[in-house]
Amino acid sequence: MREQLLAAEKVKAIEWRDGKLHLLDQRLLPREETWLAYDSAAGVAEAIRQMVVRGAPAIGIAAAFGLVLGARARLAEGDVDWQVELEGDFTVLADSRPTAVNLFWALERMRERLQRLKAGEDPLLALEAEALGILESDREANLTMAQLGMELIRKHQGSPQNILTHCNTGALATGGFGTALGVIRAAYLDGLVERVYADETRPWLQGSRLTAWELEGEGVPVTLNVDSAAAHLMKTRGITWVIVGADRITANGDVANKIGTYQLAVCAMHHGVRFMVVAPSSTIDMGLEDGEDIPIEERDGRELLDVGGQRIAANVDAYNPVFDVTPADLIDVIVTEKGIVERPDAAKMAQLMCRKRLH
Ligand code: MRU
Repeated sequence: MREQLLAAEKVKAIEWRDGKLHLLDQRLLPREETWLAYDSAAGVAEAIRQMVVRGAPAIGIAAAFGLVLGARARLAEGDVDWQVELEGDFTVLADSRPTAVNLFWALERMRERLQRLKAGEDPLLALEAEALGILESDREANLTMAQLGMELIRKHQGSPQNILTHCNTGALATGGFGTALGVIRAAYLDGLVERVYADETRPWLQGSRLTAWELEGEGVPVTLNVDSAAAHLMKTRGITWVIVGADRITANGDVANKIGTYQLAVCAMHHGVRFMVVAPSSTIDMGLEDGEDIPIEERDGRELLDVGGQRIAANVDAYNPVFDVTPADLIDVIVTEKGIVERPDAAKMAQLMCRKRLH
């Protein structure tokens, strides 16, 4: 299956080449495939903030390369205190978006690498290798999770399934071919998927613009629906699994993900539909006891009030939280590259995090 999965890796959104970070501009998809090149930490932070690059693992990877670019500029200034100056770049990158913990996890890995520098070691080469390692390990994690998630689908239901997913968790959101969408791809390749229903994912439309584009490009049968059709779909379209990604999972198994995920979990519970969360261990924040303390990003109300730059709403304010928290007790299974956790709770999450990676 690994070979089949690798062959299915077609879309890429992040490339490190010629000393620059190249990002596929996700704001323009699927209309236009435009790549932008970044050569500064501040530029990468702005790309994350503006959602040129998005998706929890992808923004962690981008931030790691942003730090490489920051270090290069600081070293070029020839200041002996360059590591002190670099703190400014850590801060700018960390301030770009608040919810996905992968961003802070990746920056922490870069900081630890700096602290482990040996005398005479080239700091730039070391940081670049660390960022490339973060990218590669995310890709590997995707492959392991795809296999584990696919086996769960096979175990619980034999015949082809109708799967509902939310937001975009594919190649555009990761260093590989996806978390939740990776599982869906693997299950499709194994003949376990009849149709994927993709929530359009208001207001940024990651479902309509990105997930539908990725799946359609690979010939996976996909149908788009408005977010509010989810309960109706579960009742009428034989949905057997809801499969989503995560931006932060706390020590008790609560999951922050794209706004609308929580209501999917409530509806899934009501309809007896299984609910799977797929995320690498870099998304797990054991420092937070539960989802109450996860910072939830709120974006500009204009994302709701305007469409295509044109005001569509009446003269009112808009509240635009872009993530919500699904309590652990609504989740059937969390799939990570370290293994799976069925009916997550604090003890099982702690046990998972003690394990070595499977790959
Ligand atoms: O606002 P976004 O597009 O960055 O939100 C992305 C999500 O919520 C994804 O579901 C999550 O990051 C998992 S991606 C593998």
